[in-house]
Formats: sequence, structure tokens, C-alpha cells
Amino acid sequence: MAPPHPLVATFQQAGQGHVFAFFDRLSPDEQVRLLSEAAEIDLSEVDRLNRTLVVPTGAAAGVDLTGLAPAPYQPVVAHGGDAAAWQRAKVAGEAALRAGRVAAFTVAGGQGTRLGYDGPKGTFPVTPVMGKTLFQVFAEKLRAAGNRYGRPLHWFIMTSHQNHAATEAFFKAQACFGLDPTKVHFFRQGRMPAVSFEGKILLETMGSIALSPDGHGGSLRALERSGALDLMEREGIDTLSYFQVDNPLVRAIDPTFVGWHLLHGSEMSSKMVPKAYAEEKLGHFCVQNEKMVVVEYSDLPMAMQRETEAGGQLRYRAGSIAIHLLDREFIRRMARSGDAGLALPFHRADKKIPTIDAGGSVVKPAKVNGVKFELFVFDAQPFAKNPLVIETSRADDFSPVKNAEGVDSPQSCRDDQRRQFARWLKANGAKLPTDASGLPGVNLEVAPSFGYDEDSFAEAWALLPSKPLLVDGLVLA
Ligand code: UTP
Repeated sequence: MAPPHPLVATFQQAGQGHVFAFFDRLSPDEQVRLLSEAAEIDLSEVDRLNRTLVVPTGAAAGVDLTGLAPAPYQPVVAHGGDAAAWQRAKVAGEAALRAGRVAAFTVAGGQGTRLGYDGPKGTFPVTPVMGKTLFQVFAEKLRAAGNRYGRPLHWFIMTSHQNHAATEAFFKAQACFGLDPTKVHFFRQGRMPAVSFEGKILLETMGSIALSPDGHGGSLRALERSGALDLMEREGIDTLSYFQVDNPLVRAIDPTFVGWHLLHGSEMSSKMVPKAYAEEKLGHFCVQNEKMVVVEYSDLPMAMQRETEAGGQLRYRAGSIAIHLLDREFIRRMARSGDAGLALPFHRADKKIPTIDAGGSVVKPAKVNGVKFELFVFDAQPFAKNPLVIETSRADDFSPVKNAEGVDSPQSCRDDQRRQFARWLKANGAKLPTDASGLPGVNLEVAPSFGYDEDSFAEAWALLPSKPLLVDGLVLA
């Protein structure tokens, strides 16, 4: 009999030898695969997480709220912001875009379980008339912004092991939506093993470990590992515009945001919207020990979420919508900071994790049976120099597709897109009946190539020799 692989002994010493319990029953190919999955795992990291997050607490630990206060932010002009400062930011951001200092970055490695769509989430059809996919919307916005500023943009897309091949194939089949393929870069994020409540690594089958993406915060180390940061440096790009794959309304490239970030000398900037109501499920921008932090809605006691100021508005109103600007060298510092103890903290998520029973048969648990570990990108904020939060208008930046129905669903997102197109049209003199929520009576769509924000839309609209009839199914392209 061949001697056991050295990795098997290492796992045994770490108390994780059960990972190889069925090794002898696997084919040679399956054995190779299991060994390569095992080699991906940092056992000392798992041990540390078990000791700190899993075994001693028995349940997800609470967050320390000592000294917590709402974070300051730059309000929009309509809410008292300084109009001249917003204008200066726009000018500075446009100059940075013309100088080619900005690239786009989409995190698309999530599992999209709530939406329940079979395929990478970016391939989900989202626009109201054409049914363009999320990836197509971003591609067209980036193409239009690149044309506007005379500098085609680089676009980094983070995938997972699960959806990487399908994502690349999708872009290939669509000829990269007309973008220069040498400027569209895909890379996989890292994976973490799931563990039982006793800290034992779970097997998904006899020959594979229950591995899942390491969270959007894994993007920082994945950017470094993939060579994306080096590429940015070679290309003279110092600022990354970070957005999520599920939010087609996002100003993927926002000159004013870029300008605020650069003029403030910020290493990480974020957009906030005032929470619509206390219970709204958004993270909160706060300060603690003079550091900017984001406290998740599940971690801030409801009594605090309901606190109001003298004017009646929520005290903890600065809701995070997962739109950030990141400085290239800040990302590098964070990615390399693991050993210095500065790395992002892992969060514990208790989940139903398909696994095997003692006999090796696959079981789908009816209730939560283990823990997944995830990194969150907003946890980088306390490490950033001069972090900045600016307000944005939700209607022009945020309508995510998270759920199959109801709040943050394909329907609510299509409606929000139609409201945005109607607003742009009405702001430019078009007559378009809308209901009290701003939803037009007709279904229509504005292609990003025609207008991808208020400014580009207004310019394109003004140039139209005759204005189209605003009929059902109209597409301005
Ligand atoms: P969500 O937190 O909404 O998670 O991700 P999700 O996996 O897409 O959806 P559910 O919770 O399973 O329903 C927010 C953004 O972060 C990305 C997602 O692709 C989405 O753009 N993300 C999330 C990653 O890129 N990697 C991850 O490991 C997790």
C-alpha cells in the first residue's frame, strides 16, 4: 500500500483527518481533486476561526458597540451640501477620467441564492423592454463613459470557482458587448471551507470539501493575487470603482464621486443613501474609536436604528449601498496585511450546508448545520486613510436585484429603471404621465449608449432632430 499523502498527515494533526475518511474509496482522479481542494485550505486560519468564531460562542457573537456614533458624510446639495464643492468634485473627477486613472470593478462571485436563478447573476435579464442582462447594462455604461472621456476603461470582474467558466463563456458569446476584450479582466475569488458547529471541515461528497466563495471582501486579496493591481499600476490607474453585479442602476463611473475621493485624499470612499425607514436592511456608516466602520443592520439594536434627531430624521440614517472607490495601493496594503494582523475579519454565517452522513451518503439538511466564513469589503474602511462617505440619490444609484419577488426583485428594479428614464425625459421637457411614485404609464427604456446618466442623456436628447413619441415599448438607443 502506498504511504499516505503528506497532506493527509497534516490534516490529521490539525484534527481534520476525517476529510480523508473515504479517500481509499475514491478513484485516482477523485483523489487528486480532493487533495487539490485540501491544499487550498489554510488550516491555521481555519483553526483560528474555529477558536474565535465557532466553538467558544456556540452562536454568532455580538458586535462591540462601545463608543459608536453616526459617521459624518457629505450631503447632496438638495440636503444642504455645498454646491461649489460638488461642482469642484465633478471637474476633478472628469479630469481623472480623461487622464485614464480610473477602472471599473464588479464583484460577481456571489451565489445569488435568494434570486434562485440558474447561472451567473450577471447573465440575468434585467432591463424593462429589451431584457438586457446585468452584464450588458454595465458593459454599455462603461463603453459610453470611456467614449465620453476619450479613455476606454479597464473592467475587472471577480467571479467564483462556480461561475467563472460560464461568465467568461457568456462574454465571449456576446463578443464582449463591443468592449475591447484586452480591457476586460476576469479572475476568481478565493474559497473557504464550511465547518460543523464543532469546527470540523464539512465534506460535500466523499471526494469533495464543502467550499464556498470567501465573501466580497475576498476581492482585495484576489485583486492582488490575480495581478490586477500590477496591471493597474502599469496602466497608470490608481482608483477602482467598485460595484455589485446586482445593481443595474449604479453610476458605474461617477465623475463627481471620483472627484470627492481624490480631492479628499481618501483611500476608500463610499456612497450612502438616507435609510428609507428604520427597519430597512442596510448597513450603517458609523464612527468608533475615531475609525469609520459599517455596522450591519443585524448588528445594530433596533432601538438604536429607530433613534431620531431633533428634526425627526433617523440618527443612524447613513445606509451603505455597497458602492466604493478604492485606492490601488490601499488594496495592496490590505491584501498583504494578513500577517501584520490588519487583515479583514471573517464573519460567521450559520447555514444549511449539504454534506454527507457517516456512511458517505449526501444529505440536504433541513436546518442549519454549520458555519460559513465570509469577508466583507466594507470592513476595509477603518484601515483607510481619510475615508469619506458621500450622499447619493437612491433613485439614480441603487436598485438591487436580490430576491425573486417583492422588495429588491426583478420587478421592483425594472420599475426603478422606468422611473429613472421618466425623470430624465421630464427633466428635459418631455410630456410623460407618471403615477405618484414617478412610474410612467408606458414601458420604455433608455440604452446606456444613448444616455447613461442625467448629463449624457440631456446632451443626446437635445441633439435629436425630432423627439420620438413616448409610446409603450419605446427604446432610445
Ligand atoms: P450578496 O451579499 O447579495 O450575496 O452579494 P449573493 O451571494 O449575491 O446573494 P445571496 O445572498 O446568495 O442571495 C452582494 C454582491 O457581492 C458579490 C455578489 O456577486 C454581489 O455582487 N459577492 C458576494 C461576491 O462577489 N463574492 C462573494 O463571496 C459574495
